Amino acid sequence: MGEKIRVLVPEEEVEAKIREVGAQISRDYAGRSVHLISILKGGVFFTCELAKNITVPVSLDFMAVSSYGGDTKSSGVVKIVKDLDEPLQGKDVLIVEDIIDSGRTLAHLVEVLKQRNPGSIRICTLLDKPSRRVKKQVVVDYTCFTIPDEFVVGYGLDYDQKYRNLPYIGVVEF
Ligand code: IMP
Ligand code: MG
Repeated sequence: MGEKIRVLVPEEEVEAKIREVGAQISRDYAGRSVHLISILKGGVFFTCELAKNITVPVSLDFMAVSSYGGDTKSSGVVKIVKDLDEPLQGKDVLIVEDIIDSGRTLAHLVEVLKQRNPGSIRICTLLDKPSRRVKKQVVVDYTCFTIPDEFVVGYGLDYDQKYRNLPYIGVVEF
């Protein structure tokens, strides 16, 4: 308790940017539909706002993953805590994440999901911290904001399960 939160990206800017990215996705997927895979829990707020701004047909599914702690963390192996409800066969999949940091979570997830034969697979993230990337092979197709190496909360992101509901993106000042 007692952390202070400094606003990094105010609510209006977050939402304006999501509208822009939603419009870009709508153009890129014109004539097709897009299957959004929201990564729980952090990706949920972003997914909802993004989905509202996509004009091609949208379907939604959810997945929860967790990194193995301790020594195995560097292996980049992630555990699927909640799997998807629907098969991906032939679908145009767009993974929707809150933030890409080391890239380990997504690098592993993309490998797992590719084996389910989607028609295509792309990545959309609210935030990217490229200076922290370990898995350089992760190609991010849509990024709302590139941020410096600071610990951020809000718009789905948490610190110790708190602050996910903040309508802006803030930096925790310990
Ligand atoms: P990666 O596998 O290192 O890319 O891990 C990304 C995950 O770490 C995200 O989905 C978040 O859950 C968490 N994370 C990384 N940076 C932050 C941050 O600044 N605030 C909150 N969560 C973060
Ligand atoms: Mg996360």
